[in-house]
Amino acid sequence: MKIKAVYPGSFDPITNGHIYIAERAAAIFDEVIVSVLVNERKNAAFTVKERCEMAKESLNHIQNISIDSFNGLLVDYVRHIGASVIIRGLRAMSDFEYEFQMALMNRRLAPEIETFFIVTDPKYSYVSSSSVREIFHFGGSVEGVVPDYVLEKLKAHYH
Ligand code: PNS
Repeated sequence: MKIKAVYPGSFDPITNGHIYIAERAAAIFDEVIVSVLVNERKNAAFTVKERCEMAKESLNHIQNISIDSFNGLLVDYVRHIGASVIIRGLRAMSDFEYEFQMALMNRRLAPEIETFFIVTDPKYSYVSSSSVREIFHFGGSVEGVVPDYVLEKLKAHYH
């Protein structure tokens, strides 16, 4: 049986840390869908379309990865597309509490869906989309932290 996994997130924007997790997930599961959350309330820097485009460009070297977006409850979406696994990346212990809570809540809502955690490479342990946005905004370098394509999009967005 082919196993379909969803790697959900805000991806605002996608970073090399996300790409690392997606690559490792793609080596384990038959199909990985990187799915961008459509959240009207959160004031995102990039539109969902832009975030999907950046994810697509950054992951087009991996055959079994596709990009999508979702609305509403994650477990409903995972069920709807016939997936059975949720991928989440862990950077540090500080991620754990929130991720543990979310995994347990999702299990309560959908016991047949498994949350699968992948630990990041230490070189990305401090990388987050929010720090990328802030550092870039104030003129710092985010080279090596995001793909070149994303760097260009950041320049277009903030400058
Ligand atoms: O990249 P993020 O912002 O850490 O991703 C969080 C995400 C998108 C996985 C989470 O906010 C989510 O699943 N939102 C959809 C709504 C939902 O299902 N909430 C219940 C989670 S217990």
